[in-house]
Amino acid sequence: MRVFQVEGAWGIEHLKMSARPDPKPGPGQVLLRMRASSINYRDPIVPLKAYGSQSGELPLIPVSDGVGDVIEIGAGVTRVKVGDRACPAYFQTWISGEPNANRLTQSLGGPLDGTMAEFMCLSEEGVVKVPEYLTNFEASTLPCAALTAWSALVECGHIRPGEQLLIQGSGGVALFALQFAKMLGAHVTVISSSDEKIERVKAMGADETINYIETPEWGKAARALTDGRGFDHILEVGGEKTLPQSLRCIRPGGTLSMIGILSGAAMSTSLGLIITRQVRLQGITVGHRDGLEAMIRAMSQHEIHPMIDRVFDFEALKESFEYIKTGQQFGKICISHG
Ligand SMILES: NC(=O)c1ccc[n+]([C@@H]2O[C@H](COP(=O)([O-])OP(=O)(O)OC[C@H]3O[C@@H](n4cnc5c(N)ncnc54)[C@H](OP(=O)(O)O)[C@@H]3O)[C@@H](O)[C@H]2O)c1
Repeated sequence: MRVFQVEGAWGIEHLKMSARPDPKPGPGQVLLRMRASSINYRDPIVPLKAYGSQSGELPLIPVSDGVGDVIEIGAGVTRVKVGDRACPAYFQTWISGEPNANRLTQSLGGPLDGTMAEFMCLSEEGVVKVPEYLTNFEASTLPCAALTAWSALVECGHIRPGEQLLIQGSGGVALFALQFAKMLGAHVTVISSSDEKIERVKAMGADETINYIETPEWGKAARALTDGRGFDHILEVGGEKTLPQSLRCIRPGGTLSMIGILSGAAMSTSLGLIITRQVRLQGITVGHRDGLEAMIRAMSQHEIHPMIDRVFDFEALKESFEYIKTGQQFGKICISHG
């Protein structure tokens, strides 16, 4: 089968089109003919071995997210049948419940082989059926970015109607969070670097917006939007530079979902505020398979369509990696498997 893989040595120059034997499903396994993949922030970093132990061993097929047609099933498989479409879960062994060391290490696209292959052979426990209303490109975006937003707001955040949520940026995770939060009846403020993107998030239902380039000290302005009460929940994708602003506008007892470190990984903030405001810092790392299924049920109920920015051909994987690094995209970047 045709694959993209990092082979011989780490480095983007060692990411190449290559071939591997076609896989055959054993008992309890499912064979997917891959139809589409989608790119996350992490995918261009893994081939550089810059994602710690999650980069895994070589050769490695990159990219965690995708969707395929079930074309063969092994003995005893009941979760899917031939002809279904299914997404591989990001964490193959985190089915439900609390995370543990094993559950958080078995992720696709590093250390396990990812979706940039013609076929994937997976345990039936590690795949989730996708509904008909989603296109292949839309379905390919669900396992990481969408589930991360869902885990932050629903599984860990328990967000309720009328709560005030602040979302940082208009990236993949952020736009899913906006869609889910509106579905759940929350009041949503989005901060973005771009007036054009601000218009687009308003069209998607954002109630309030702030341009964080024009207002670098946006914490005070954001708090004012809540009549001084502060936000019940903030989705942190910035980290080092944004956390101090978030602490200025979170309400006492509010939750900060720690998702990304786009502005740096160090903690350079007043820890006292976290204590005196009894703020909850909740780390989020994607989520479990049962969460993915619950999210897909909710999306189906409301016919939520992921926002797709652009589609690249299979052969143009490296171009898609360059594109995600520009930050120009509004929504997900997908790969067509042809
Ligand atoms: N913890 C997890 O499980 C998990 C899962 C997925 C992703 N992540 C992480 O979450 C982050 C975002 O991922 P993504 O897939 O959504 O990325 P993405 O689609 O590339 O989006 C990045 C967006 O973040 C916004 N941004 C960047 N710097 C910012 C800052 N200083 N303040 C506010 N917003 C800022 C920008 O929005 P504007 O263009 O609107 O300014 C940018 O477009 C990454 O660090 C990624 O590694 C974590």
